Amino acid sequence: MPVTTHPARPIRRPRLLQDRPPLYQSIVGASPKMQRIFRLVSKVARTDSTVLLIGESGTGKELVARSIHLQSRRSQGPFVPVNVGALPESLIESELFGSVRGAFTGASGDRAGLVEEADGGTLFLDEIGDMPIQTQVKLLRTLENNEVRRLGDNATRVVDVRVVAATHRDLQREVAAGRFREDLYYRLNVVQIDLPPLRERREDIGLLASFFLDRASKQAERDGLEFSPEAAALLERYDYPGNVRELENAIEHAVAVAEGPKILAIDLPAVFRAPRLLPKEFGARDTEDLSPAVSLPAPAAAPTASPASDPRATWSLAEVEREHIQRVLALHRGNATTAARQLGISRTTLWRKLREYGLKRSGE
Ligand SMILES: Nc1ncnc2c1ncn2[C@@H]1O[C@H](COP(=O)(O)OP(=O)(O)OP(=O)(O)O)[C@@H](O)[C@H]1O
Ligand SMILES: [Mg+2]
Repeated sequence: MPVTTHPARPIRRPRLLQDRPPLYQSIVGASPKMQRIFRLVSKVARTDSTVLLIGESGTGKELVARSIHLQSRRSQGPFVPVNVGALPESLIESELFGSVRGAFTGASGDRAGLVEEADGGTLFLDEIGDMPIQTQVKLLRTLENNEVRRLGDNATRVVDVRVVAATHRDLQREVAAGRFREDLYYRLNVVQIDLPPLRERREDIGLLASFFLDRASKQAERDGLEFSPEAAALLERYDYPGNVRELENAIEHAVAVAEGPKILAIDLPAVFRAPRLLPKEFGARDTEDLSPAVSLPAPAAAPTASPASDPRATWSLAEVEREHIQRVLALHRGNATTAARQLGISRTTLWRKLREYGLKRSGE
């Protein structure tokens, strides 16, 4: 048993449980990818299978883990989130498995770990890829035998815990590199759910944006705030390296700084307006390249123009999208393949949108 020394500290749950979001929170998503995930989540929630959530930072892994818990027979039990990556190596085992008096310097009494705390509920092991290899061995034993041994204890205790783990890493590569145990990998990976980055389900951006705007403006007691068409267009075209979290934060930021009844482009974080992220059809060449086969409304007003002077200030997100698709198609002379690529959506999605909006490719 490893004996760790660290200064005596008040170990009463210091961990990362503060600032937790409320347990229940809606998951928004209309894209086929998210719809598939919703179906998968409700199916696996009914089982006790271990679930491995894989996705970039901010794609909603924790939200999905909570949702699995809430839809499961364990929903009345505890949901215990553990950020494995944030726990110091010297503490991780005592935090997870607990300890008995004298197990290490500072272990003054018997204490249950997080695994025991999750008894009857769900243990969410976030950033599982960061778990030290010797801890992985103990976790595997716990998962296989449904029992836990506190540090320094001879006896084991029976636990009934469902594990949901998450990682942004390629665990298979970690296995190949010898940093992650293969047996644990297979034990965790009974059901794998891949959360796609936001840029691969762009159809969700508008929906998420309105959801967050609604929530943030209610919180700020500024109900009725809306996006200007320019702000909406910038939101729609951005890349979102930080995924949904970045969109959520951007909108909170915008709500905090917006002065009028509309969120203007200028209210969004600067990175949304960075020229390098703007595809080339916006800007000086805007009107020159347009195919005469498609007539377009006037180009967007500059972000600094007063929203009142812009006739499109009252447009919905869908109207902005319709116009943008039309514009991009015109630029690509009706070529759906290259237009879809620029829009960051699949050709099938583009076809669907064309049908939905009653649009035709030029030349059709
Ligand atoms: N589909 C969604 N609908 C609504 N909110 C979402 C959605 N996806 C993510 N969010 C919100 O985005 C933020 C990030 O989500 P979450 O913490 O679940 O991501 P994560 O994948 O665990 O990220 P990290 O790897 O950085 O921990 C949260 O505030 C969450 O509520
Ligand atoms: Mg997370």
